[in-house]
Amino acid sequence: MNILLLGSGGREHALSWKLSQSPKCSQLYILPGNVGTSDCGLNIAGSVNDFEFIKKVVLEKNIQMVIVGPEEPLVLGIHDFFLADNALKYIYIIGPRMQGAQLEGSKDFSKAFMNRHGIPTAAYASFNASELEKATQYINQHILPIVLKADGLAAGKGVVITSDRNEAISTVTEMLSGAAFGKAGTTVVIEQFLDGIELSVFVLTDGKSFKVFPEAKDYKKIGEGDSGLNTGGMGSVSPVPFATPEFMNKITEQIILPTIQGLQAENIPYSGFLFIGIIKVDNEPLVIEYNVRLGDPETESVLPRITSDLVELFESLALGKLDTAELSVSKEVAATIMLVAGGYPGKYNKGDKISGAQAQEGSFVFHAGTKNENGEVVTDGGRVLAVTAMGPDQQAALKTAVARINEISFEGMNFRSDIGFDL
Ligand code: AMP
Ligand code: GLY
Repeated sequence: MNILLLGSGGREHALSWKLSQSPKCSQLYILPGNVGTSDCGLNIAGSVNDFEFIKKVVLEKNIQMVIVGPEEPLVLGIHDFFLADNALKYIYIIGPRMQGAQLEGSKDFSKAFMNRHGIPTAAYASFNASELEKATQYINQHILPIVLKADGLAAGKGVVITSDRNEAISTVTEMLSGAAFGKAGTTVVIEQFLDGIELSVFVLTDGKSFKVFPEAKDYKKIGEGDSGLNTGGMGSVSPVPFATPEFMNKITEQIILPTIQGLQAENIPYSGFLFIGIIKVDNEPLVIEYNVRLGDPETESVLPRITSDLVELFESLALGKLDTAELSVSKEVAATIMLVAGGYPGKYNKGDKISGAQAQEGSFVFHAGTKNENGEVVTDGGRVLAVTAMGPDQQAALKTAVARINEISFEGMNFRSDIGFDL
């Protein structure tokens, strides 16, 4: 079948690499894709949120399956758009409908959902634009640190953790007024700070049965030892040693099953990935957040470990018979290191020439922020490349990744060589 993948990051390069290996994939298209994805299929320029244009592409290219990489088109209702159109309604869409996508699109919705279904998460209260006074009182009585979250999508920037009450109040004031995140911030979730270690769990579900993909841990801080500013992700590792079978069982029993049963009980159809951000506190899992897609840079270490055919899995998902599908996973450890532009996550350069990034046996170089300029690959974002290597253990995987990175260069290139240091 012909497949269309939406998105343009490292996650999408990893997905397109995996999808293009399937004997079931005749032609892969990526919209808009990047320099890396063009090695796996045909890139089509366009916006992932332009549903009318996507419709045109799907009909013109005879696409039978659409895989949605990022959250925004899901929250905007791309799946519903397809279902409402007679020419599109039989096309498989990998990703939930608008209602299910609220699990990521609205923190207020997802917190209330967790509470309704007894799913462990931080205690919280939420406030809308007319409740600044109540929110201020709540902050004044709350123990510190305190966690403030814009309700809607804020490109990963909507969470503020602070131990300063005045800062908390001014942040909430800015959010509720719309000055900080526009409409996404005019409802705010204020929650208890949880002190623990985080884990990303990826569940593929058709709303009835589910498959748990390999777990991963991502590293968000720019500096070694988790120091400095937050980024879009500096690396990831999979598997995660503290995610023992016992701990994963707890996650299944206390979180995954109640989530799927809760969706069913509320008549919310769901078909696609559910990424559960978990934090482990006193050996118990709690939910930090739901996302309705795969994570980046987790995907770059998760997918290389999957040995089964991803298209087959997606096909059975779309047909509502995921229970019959096979998910097999390599025991090897995958480590991913992001190569970022100098200055990132602050101001950084674009257009610097990259050398040494071509595909090679023994490692993966997934493109995130690159573009082709007069036949040369140049940097085009803060996060530029994701280098993944596999090995019998984390140390070996990391060593191979770093060796590969030493052959790559661009002006100002920066990376963390301590991914997995805390495991
Ligand atoms: P989110 O945008 O919800 O993924 O939040 C971003 C990051 O903020 C998470 O990955 C956590 O590291 C942190 N975070 C969010 N909520 C909490 C919480 N209640 N306690 C501690 N850390 C949190
Ligand atoms: N790595 C976290 C995310 O993709 O949101």
